[in-house]
Amino acid sequence: MASVRGYVFDAYGTLFDVHAVVEAGRALTGDPMALSLAWRQKQLEYTWLRALMGRYEDFWTVTEDALRWALARLGLPAGESDVRSLMDAYLSLACFPEVPAALAALRGRPRAILSNGAPTMLAAAVASSGLAEHLDHVLSVDAVKTYKPSPKVYALGPDALGIPAGDLLFVSSNAWDVAGAKSFGYQVAWCNRTNAPAENLGVKADYVIRSLTDLPQ
Ligand code: LAC
Repeated sequence: MASVRGYVFDAYGTLFDVHAVVEAGRALTGDPMALSLAWRQKQLEYTWLRALMGRYEDFWTVTEDALRWALARLGLPAGESDVRSLMDAYLSLACFPEVPAALAALRGRPRAILSNGAPTMLAAAVASSGLAEHLDHVLSVDAVKTYKPSPKVYALGPDALGIPAGDLLFVSSNAWDVAGAKSFGYQVAWCNRTNAPAENLGVKADYVIRSLTDLPQ
């Protein structure tokens, strides 16, 4: 493999544990996981649809629109205060337990987040998870007003770090994001936290790991 001169991380599900979002649903439903899954799936669909339609709205807006759809789909009666407390869960996320030490071990080479998240959402999650000291860049798709897996988004990493994609390791827990980053030209590690099947999109991760502790050094 080529040498790795820097690291680019996906945010939600890779660094930040969205478990708190599931917990916030417990006030509304006995099956908060069903709400969380419907919400997350629609959130991603809306990013892909808005990117294809050329109708960018930031990830905060997309996330709230997806939540309202998921609540309606599951027939859950939710007031404005319920919507606000579910949304607020996104602003106070924790990271997965291994993340601070794993990022610290990579010190010496630039470490960046590259995420669909709106800048304010990412700033809040970086602060609440205590990761600021381990990150050199926090890059949001908002700079190019479209979403992953657009090549315009993946280009933000090499542009900000001043290192070609082929010399960067992109790390994501989302298999479709892995495919997008590999297709763009990064070296890619898939952090397969949930034992998910790989996507059939014609590209494969260079490394498959179970947690960030396993990151190839
Ligand atoms: C992100 C989503 C894909 O952080 O998890 O970009």
